Amino acid sequence: GRTTAGQAAPHHHGAGGGGAGLAAAVDPFTVAMPVPPVLRPTAVVGGTEVYDVAVRHTTTEILPGLTTPVLGYNGRFVGPTIRARRGRPALVRVRNEMHYATNVHLHGGVVPASSDGHPSDAIAPGGWRAYHYPNRQRGATLWYHDHSHHMEAERVYRGLHGFYLVDDDAERDLRLPSGRYDIPIMLRDALVADDGTLVFDPARWADRRTILVNGKPQPVLRVAARRYRLRLLNASAHRIFRLALPGADMVQIATDGGLLPAPVPRTELSLTPAERVEIVVDFRQQPVGTRLVLEDTSGPVLAFDVAAEADDDSRLPDQLRALPPLGTPTTVRDVALSFNPGSTTFTINGQVFDASRVDARIPLGSTEIWRVTNTDTAFGITHNLHLHLVQFRVLDRDGVPPGPGEAGLKDTVAVPPGSTVRVQATFSGFTGRYVYHCHFLEHAQIGMMAQFEVV
Ligand code: C2O
Ligand code: CU
Repeated sequence: GRTTAGQAAPHHHGAGGGGAGLAAAVDPFTVAMPVPPVLRPTAVVGGTEVYDVAVRHTTTEILPGLTTPVLGYNGRFVGPTIRARRGRPALVRVRNEMHYATNVHLHGGVVPASSDGHPSDAIAPGGWRAYHYPNRQRGATLWYHDHSHHMEAERVYRGLHGFYLVDDDAERDLRLPSGRYDIPIMLRDALVADDGTLVFDPARWADRRTILVNGKPQPVLRVAARRYRLRLLNASAHRIFRLALPGADMVQIATDGGLLPAPVPRTELSLTPAERVEIVVDFRQQPVGTRLVLEDTSGPVLAFDVAAEADDDSRLPDQLRALPPLGTPTTVRDVALSFNPGSTTFTINGQVFDASRVDARIPLGSTEIWRVTNTDTAFGITHNLHLHLVQFRVLDRDGVPPGPGEAGLKDTVAVPPGSTVRVQATFSGFTGRYVYHCHFLEHAQIGMMAQFEVV
């Protein structure tokens, strides 16, 4: 079973990389896992933290000895981590130093429409834009990424992705592992040619891809024999990760939108693109010198070398944080995700994305149930659904309530072929137009995206 991560991408006109030979595989666990640096605010103005981010063409070393041209926030293949605080707004000034337009979406963020990085709100080359993030939502592992119309899959693939963590004082008394023991881990894949370039070609979905962890291939992280809080994100455009950590317990504490009511022990974690889980792993159970390996069904992902003893005053309480009450739904909407073999497009309710069309009008403050169906049984294509603006709850999958690991706040939900997932959201906070789409970005950029307007 080493092939489950890829899935057939129906024909697509991939640009470039056609006949490129692939770089030789690197032995796993030869490179150290980097932790993206935390970006310091440039200024604090009237309680708002101001951050400056430049979007650039740059190069990096993904495979040892090969130079890879990439795109980067502040010139980093994995962008700097923004650590915001709940209740303290942030203003992120983004300067576009690339040759083409870009925009930035705060994935999972509850932000005004004008700051949401709508596909039609681009920053021209040489231009800049200020994104206003109120940070009124609960503590959560969010991420920021490019959302350029028709180009999002490739731009994110080439490096326009970074973490945005919302710290929340309401979590402080829980005393979960913090500081250097609280680590964001971005998982994604890449197809690296033998000249070092990144091949972006959705038609080559079956080629052997290198698994990158915070931008490095199957690295190793030296850990102390104590508890860690690990925030896992799948930033791939197409791959599903199914993760296990043989020899240690993975205790899930959070979903996309923040803490669960109680910890959930997991033996396997499945992450479709853009989903996040947070886990606590207690390495005290391991003697110093032990190596544990986080495995995907495709092979090893990341090694943890237990390198030293350490004090640990963190805790993993039995109760974490109650979820906000579910509202009372007033509308039920159907959302069908389908591949159209005739036009080789991906559609929502039979239509490809049109930024000038509003697909759903939603009164501010109302609560809706969305019944999301994946009709692609013949092709066996998994989709997922991401809604901007809201954190929703998964009500059921084919009538069965979700497992406890999926029962928290979510902004992206897996929809396997032939299944129906019902989610419920309350659309409050801001009016305006927001998109929703499949986060297999290769599907989104050729049509599987639509738009709601909160009025
Ligand atoms: Cu992660 Cu519309 O985005
Ligand atoms: Cu899809």
